[in-house]
Order: sequence, then structure tokens, then C-alpha cells
Amino acid sequence: MKKKLKKNNVLLAVSGGIAAYKSCYLTRLLVKSGFSVKVMMTEAATKFVSPLTFQTLSNNHVYLDMFELIKEESTQHISLSKWADICVIAPASANTISKIAQGICDNLLSTVVSALDLKTKVIIASAMNDCMWNNPLIQDNVKKLKRIKKYTILNPEKGQLACGSYGEGRMPEPETIFKKIKSFL
Ligand SMILES: Cc1cc2nc3c(=O)[nH]c(=O)nc-3n(C[C@H](O)[C@H](O)[C@H](O)COP(=O)(O)O)c2cc1C
Repeated sequence: MKKKLKKNNVLLAVSGGIAAYKSCYLTRLLVKSGFSVKVMMTEAATKFVSPLTFQTLSNNHVYLDMFELIKEESTQHISLSKWADICVIAPASANTISKIAQGICDNLLSTVVSALDLKTKVIIASAMNDCMWNNPLIQDNVKKLKRIKKYTILNPEKGQLACGSYGEGRMPEPETIFKKIKSFL
């Protein structure tokens, strides 16, 4: 079997936050730089950005449903997790962060992330309302993930939030996430 030399496959996981629109630009940056990008979205994420947008930008099928029938892949959660050289969750909602920290696998995104091998890095670009971010339960889950080497948490940035308040909650800019991805590959 041929050995793959360059790590090039970026699995972008989009969860349900208003910052999902920024991940369209992140997809563009990655594709323009020669990375292969596959996108998976939670149901909530599809309320913010259409899967068609990611399909067009990534030039790949967008993965939404664990039980979707795809001809060549009967266990797409396993094939996606094996395909990925790195996984980036952007935006990472409070719900998705908490599910991953607790080992819950009840949708495609959380199942694929749990099925990634321990060497595959997962960058988590948090984005949420500042009160959600500062909620001790969410912070406990963030701390739990920070203790595991495979997870790199990008804290949300301070600024004006879409909900109107000012605080720590904005997803890091696509360029910042892009640089982080490149630093790992
Ligand atoms: C307009 C709107 C904006 C939202 N923005 C965020 C957000 O930035 N971060 C977040 O954690 N949740 C946000 N939510 C709530 C999530 O979409 C909700 O918790 C959802 O269950 C997340 O599901 P998921 O983690 O499966 O994508 C928002 C909801 C709405 C209606």
C-alpha cells in the first residue's frame, strides 16, 4: 500500500452558532491553500448556513446524518474519522463542547469526533454568548477537554457579540484558526 506523505485532509465540523458563516471563509482559505476539506454539520448548524454553501466551497459532499445511505460507505462516521488528518470544530457550540467532553455520541459530529484516533488533533474554536462561556458547567467541560492532549481549545475572543452583549464569546477569526491548523500539519 502506498504511504501518504503529506497530511492534507481537514475535517471541518460545524455546530449551531451564528459564527458558522465565518467557517465558510475558513473553508475557502483551506481549499485555496491546497487542503482537502470535508465538512460535517449538526442539524442546528444547517439553520445558520446552507450545506450547499459548504458543498460548493469545499467541492465535496457535506455530511449531515449518520444514518444517511451513501453507496460506498456504510459506516460513514468511521470512514470520516479515518480520512481526517486533523479535525476542526468551528464554531464549537456550548452544547457540542459539552457533549464531546462527556463522551456523548448522539449525532454525526459527536460520533465522528469520538471515533478519531488519539493521534488526530482536534481544534475546538469556541463561540457562544459570554454568560454561556462563563457558566461553571460549560467551563468544567472545557477544562476536561484541555486536560486531554489531542484537544486544542481556542477560547472565544472578547468583543461585541451577535446577541448584543459585549464580552468573551466571539469565535476566533478564520485566519487565526487557519494558522493553528497549519501549525499542526
Ligand atoms: C440565533 C441563534 C444563535 C445561536 N448562537 C449560538 C452560539 O453562538 N453558540 C452556542 O453555543 N449556541 C448558540 N445557539 C444555540 C445553539 O444553536 C443550540 O444550543 C443548539 O442546540 C446547538 O446544537 P449543536 O451543538 O448540535 O449544533 C444559538 C441559537 C440561536 C437561535
